Amino acid sequence: MQPKLKTAAYSSEAQVDKLRVAANFSRAAATYDSAAVLQKRVAARAMLGLPTECSPQQILDLGSGTGSQTKVLAEHFPEAHVTGLDLAMGMLQFARSQCDSSSWCSGDIEALPFKSNSFDLVFSSLAIQWCSFETVLDELYRILKPGGVFVFSSLTSGTMGELNEAWKQVDSNIHVNGFESFEHQKKQVLESCFKQQSFKQQTETLYYPELFQLLRELKALGVNTVHSRQPGLMTRGRLLQLQEAYETFRVDAGLPLSYQVLYGILRKPAHA
Ligand SMILES: C[S@@+](CC[C@H](N)C(=O)[O-])C[C@H]1O[C@@H](n2cnc3c(N)ncnc32)[C@H](O)[C@@H]1O
Repeated sequence: MQPKLKTAAYSSEAQVDKLRVAANFSRAAATYDSAAVLQKRVAARAMLGLPTECSPQQILDLGSGTGSQTKVLAEHFPEAHVTGLDLAMGMLQFARSQCDSSSWCSGDIEALPFKSNSFDLVFSSLAIQWCSFETVLDELYRILKPGGVFVFSSLTSGTMGELNEAWKQVDSNIHVNGFESFEHQKKQVLESCFKQQSFKQQTETLYYPELFQLLRELKALGVNTVHSRQPGLMTRGRLLQLQEAYETFRVDAGLPLSYQVLYGILRKPAHA
């Protein structure tokens, strides 16, 4: 079963994209945690930004996936009520089977099913890059209580640059999602009503022995949705061409795949 999406605000193409994102993540629910090496590292780093000076009562984990970070949040703030929200029903079902002390909610980050001023703390790791950052900021500002904090990680342009470059040697289709640039996202924060407490970018690189392992891992994570109508079928010939192109990036550690990771801490002013 797919979650209901608020349809009015989106083009049909955007809705199809969201359903494809949800379907790929749902399919990956059982394999995600064992493949999520980078995702765990990034989430742990993002968690370093959690507030220490207050005890939030209502916490939201946005794009909670398998719920592993939701669980960490509940342990970190035992007095709080923690809700995990995700678009992918498969992820929500998996998360619920692992932890029944949190609330689980099906919904879209770009049209959150919560009243204004509902949360003291919103955490999100590697989920909002699937959305328009401007819309995310608007929604977050709406649902956070005055003084509430948004602690997050996301991705910026240049992510999976090696894979993108290698595909360009094969054909002119889009195979790797483009993400908004760090500068553009920073500008959007400055133009928003949020108080920026921290906003920085860091490169994370994973290395694989062969291209096959790299592609298999992306599928196991469910991050293989491309916002393009015709990425083309993966035939054996194209795979060999891609392999040859990717080999030009090989270093001693293996085939690199780089992620440009954004870490942010934003606060809604106390007198908003
Ligand atoms: C890479 S996973 C990260 C999961 C988790 N935060 C973690 O760090 O392990 C991204 C999650 O965001 C969810 N997601 C993507 N777009 C979304 C949207 N528009 N609304 C809600 N969830 C979304 C996906 O279904 C997926 O579970």
